[in-house]
Amino acid sequence: MLNKVKVAVLVSGGGTNLQALLDSQKSGVIKSGEISLVISNKEDAYALTRAKNAGVKTAVVVKKDFPSTECFENEILRILEENKIEVIVLAGFMCILSESFVKKYPKRIINVHPSLIPSFCGEGFYGLRVHKAALDYGVKVTGATVHFVNEIADGGEIIMQKAVEIEKGDTPEILQKRVMQNAEWIILPKALQSVCKNILEDR
Ligand code: GAR
Repeated sequence: MLNKVKVAVLVSGGGTNLQALLDSQKSGVIKSGEISLVISNKEDAYALTRAKNAGVKTAVVVKKDFPSTECFENEILRILEENKIEVIVLAGFMCILSESFVKKYPKRIINVHPSLIPSFCGEGFYGLRVHKAALDYGVKVTGATVHFVNEIADGGEIIMQKAVEIEKGDTPEILQKRVMQNAEWIILPKALQSVCKNILEDR
């Protein structure tokens, strides 16, 4: 049996997507990868507690502790390399990674975005803002997308998408919850499994 693909999850907040990944690893949906590291750019992210509860190693790298974005990213890269990480999942990681960073992991970084790309994506579209924009526009269907990360914000190749209907009376908060439950928490683990499986098959 070949070794599993070593995965790091980058987070900034509550970490419900991280939880979905950890649960999917436990239930066997993710079998070709192993979540071996969680990196947060926020010291107080609840995602760190979720990681610790699951016995996963954590690291905190805060941008303001570094003189430049380059130094901040270099520290993340150092930790990833030290832990021999092969695949990086951005799960509510609220930093846009530089071109030089993403070029070091071609087709090895995946991101979950809470809309059907190419709608409501790119710089400035994150978290509740995405759902507010969808409701303001008046779309009847939204959803979530998992995609590879390249140098264009939310512009990399799409791996998986799932649609979610807008309902009467939706607020950004209500819609965010439905998109997470009915789309993000389902497709992110499946997409990660598929990426890791392909890597194992190519070894
Ligand atoms: C999720 O809805 C994720 O799709 C979104 O932030 C939330 C993080 O929640 N990401 C973006 O908007 C990225 N552009 P979580 O910390 O509970 O997983």
